[in-house]
Amino acid sequence: MKCILALAAMLTALGAVAAESPPKADLAKAQNIVNQTCAACHGSDGNSQIAVNPKLAGQIPEYIYKQLTNFKAETGKKAERDNAVMAGMVAGLSTEDMHGLAAYFAGQTAKPGAAKSKELVALGQRIYRGGIASEGVAACASCHGPNGAGMPSQYPRLSGQHAEYIAAQLKAFRSGARANDASASMRGVAGRLSDREIEAVADYIAGLR
Ligand code: HEC
Ligand code: HEC
Repeated sequence: MKCILALAAMLTALGAVAAESPPKADLAKAQNIVNQTCAACHGSDGNSQIAVNPKLAGQIPEYIYKQLTNFKAETGKKAERDNAVMAGMVAGLSTEDMHGLAAYFAGQTAKPGAAKSKELVALGQRIYRGGIASEGVAACASCHGPNGAGMPSQYPRLSGQHAEYIAAQLKAFRSGARANDASASMRGVAGRLSDREIEAVADYIAGLR
C-alpha cells in the first residue's frame, strides 16, 4: 500500500512537471529560418564546413538557447556575448524562435571531425582528461564529459568542433572578451592555459567522438 501511495505521488509530480514544460518547439518555422539565414554559415544541418563558424549539430539545446539570448543586446546595454555577426542574426528572433532553433540544431546528427597535429594531440588528450594539476586547471572531461558530448543542461558539447573555433573561444575566455560563463568557470580554466596548450587541447577536441 505504501508503495502504491508513493507511486501515485510520483506520477502526480511527473504530471505537474509535464504541465509546466514549454509548448512544443515549432520545428517547421525553425527549419525556415535556418534555410533563409543560418545555413549559409552553419550548414543546413548544423555541420558547418567553415572553421570560424561553430558546428551546432547535436549541441545541447539549453546551451544553444542561452547563447542566442546572450548575443542579443538589451537597449543601452552590451550583449552578454559580444559578437557583431551573431548580434545581427538574433536581433529579429523571438523567444519562441530561439527555442525552436535550439531544438532544431540539437536534433541534427553531428558529423565527426579529426585531429590534425600528431605532435600536439597527446598533450591535448592529457589536458582534456586530467587537467594540469600544477596550474590548478580542472580536467575538461569533468564538465564536458569524457567524450565531449557535454552535459545537459549547462555544459556544451565540444566533440568534433572545429579546432580553430575552440581555440578562438579559449583565447576569448582567457582575455575576458567572452565573459558569459556562469561563475567564470571557463575564464578560470582558460586563464591558466598557454597558447601551445590551447592549440593542443583544441586539436584533440576536434577529433573527439
Ligand atoms: C554570417 C555568418 C553567420 C550566420 C548567417 C549565422 N551565424 Fe551563428 N555564428 C557565426 C559565428 C562567426 C559564430 C561564432 C561567434 C563567436 O566567435 O563568438 C556564431 C555562433 C553561433 C552560436 C554559438 C555557438 C556556440 O557553440 O557557442 C549559435 C547558437 C549560433 N551562431 C546560431 C545561429 C543561428 C540560429 C543563426 C540563424 C538565425 C546563425 N547562427 C546565423 C556566424 C553566423
Ligand atoms: C567547471 C566546469 C568546466 C570545466 C572544468 C571546463 N569547462 Fe568549458 N565550459 C563550461 C561552461 C559552463 C561553458 C558554457 C559557458 C556559457 O554559458 O557560455 C563552457 C564552454 C566552453 C567552450 C565554448 C564552447 C562553444 O561552443 O562556444 C569551450 C571551447 C570550452 N568550454 C572548452 C573547455 C576546455 C578545453 C576545458 C579544459 C581545459 C574546459 N572547457 C573545462 C564549463 C567548464
